[in-house]
Amino acid sequence: MRTDQGIERNGLRRLGLCLAACALLTAGCRLNMHDQARVEPYEESDFFDDGVGSRPLPANTVARGDLRADVGAYTGISAAGQPLAAPPFPVTRQVLQRGEERYNVFCSPCHSRVGDGQGMIVQRGFKQPTSFHDPRLRGSQVGYFFNVMTEGYGVMPSYAPQIPVNDRWAIAAYIRVLQYSQNARLADLSPERRALVQERLARPVRPMDQGMPAPGAPGPGQTGHSGSVETAPPSHDQAPEGADHP
Ligand code: HEC
Repeated sequence: MRTDQGIERNGLRRLGLCLAACALLTAGCRLNMHDQARVEPYEESDFFDDGVGSRPLPANTVARGDLRADVGAYTGISAAGQPLAAPPFPVTRQVLQRGEERYNVFCSPCHSRVGDGQGMIVQRGFKQPTSFHDPRLRGSQVGYFFNVMTEGYGVMPSYAPQIPVNDRWAIAAYIRVLQYSQNARLADLSPERRALVQERLARPVRPMDQGMPAPGAPGPGQTGHSGSVETAPPSHDQAPEGADHP
């Protein structure tokens, strides 16, 4: 047994030596494929008169996909320096839903799902951003939100590398939705909707506490407690973070 193992080990050693010798012998013959007769960008060259290997771009050349003629659409700020009042494409329900989804992914960790700036990262010690319900930001244009996402703002980094242009616009439009969610005015509603809300606001807030509906308040279909649940007017303090987002 022992001799068999000895022979085996010797054989292996010889094979190893052979391989090492082959490697040494052929090392000098390696073809450096990375070292070809080509010109690196801006490498010196005596072929052209200006001594540069790269050729200057013909006038008006634009790299593929880089033609950003519409400055506002890519910065949120018009050529005249004003933030755009609306995204460069129609805002549909689909756009807003996309904006909500992307906002919840990228922005809510700091700005919170309702936009008050109390996201989890802030609760863990990061600088608290201004609430989107602050009058200054309520008065800001969506182009401004787009610009902040694109270029960053103070300690907030730019999200341009992570969020494509159209998604950034969708998020900017959705911030408006968030703002409305906490600051809607009756006057913003259509007359029918306004009447509906006013009628519901006129009802007692919690009829169940009073045992019976307040005089004049009950609608024709209101028979008991259940009616007040879905008819309760939207309330500012009924939106705990994330409660109404699946
Ligand atoms: C890592 C935390 C963080 C994330 C994520 C984040 N932000 Fe911010 N954001 C901040 C902070 C902090 C500020 C305030 C910066 C400062 O004052 O230095 C801010 C400020 C803002 C402002 C307000 C600027 C002003 O005028 O006060 C807007 C608008 C904004 N962020 C939008 C967004 C949007 C949209 C997203 C998602 C794409 C996002 N942020 C993601 C932390 C964050």
